[in-house]
Amino acid sequence: MALLEVRGLTGGYGETDILNGVDLDADTGEVVVIVGANGAGKSTLMKAIAGLVRIRAGHVRFAGEEIANAPAESMVLRGLAYVPQERNVFPSLTVEENLAMGVYAQPKRFREGKERALALFPDLAARLATPAGRLSGGQRQMVAIARALMLEPRLIMLDEPTAGLSPKFCSAIFARVQKIAQAGIGVLMVEQNARPALAIADRGVVLAMGRNRATAPGSALLTNPDIGRLFLGG
Ligand SMILES: Nc1ncnc2c1ncn2[C@@H]1O[C@H](COP(=O)(O)OP(=O)(O)O)[C@@H](O)[C@H]1O
Ligand SMILES: [Mg+2]
Repeated sequence: MALLEVRGLTGGYGETDILNGVDLDADTGEVVVIVGANGAGKSTLMKAIAGLVRIRAGHVRFAGEEIANAPAESMVLRGLAYVPQERNVFPSLTVEENLAMGVYAQPKRFREGKERALALFPDLAARLATPAGRLSGGQRQMVAIARALMLEPRLIMLDEPTAGLSPKFCSAIFARVQKIAQAGIGVLMVEQNARPALAIADRGVVLAMGRNRATAPGSALLTNPDIGRLFLGG
């Protein structure tokens, strides 16, 4: 049994189903990458798992428990962290205050969480007193990921963590993602930078129009000519 098991997930906004029976597994220490065209439903899938989009049918099991439509606030205490693509830091709060927001449910764990976060993102140590809004895009993304790691999640979901970043910052983020997985945390990541992301993926999922188009080890998707032509820009 995988840490996260999504089966036949169907749902969306209002009366319209955006997702039509999606299946997905993500396990401890694994990097799982979801790729697909704009509008395929990648962000909707993450929000549905995180309890932010209504699931009309199907199952989401996390650590053996059914969590479909569980309140979004309950996810962090279950060990499921979600970093949305946008507005994922509090720009007027300092880096340190942003990290503190990551433990609001269990404030006593601040010191321990901060140590862990800074071990993974040592660059942030010199910027703890800086408002997050004054950081570069890449640094803000690191703050967002660090905050999500504060309560030691079992799985972290990242929606396009490299969107808008320079290639140098993209490689830095992917290197951190690998480290997070090596620490035994599952990583479920949506990426537009599909090739470098699939290169570090234990499992890749191609989503098209709210359905699974392909699921295979990242390396297998990279070398599949049909997938390359249709989804990876040739
Ligand atoms: N809040 C919303 N309300 C209604 N429709 C939405 C909303 N967010 C996204 N959609 C629609 O859902 C579909 C999938 O969007 P999304 O999950 O954001 O795709 P992706 O992340 O793969 O680019 C799109 O057709 C989009 O227009
Ligand atoms: Mg999206």
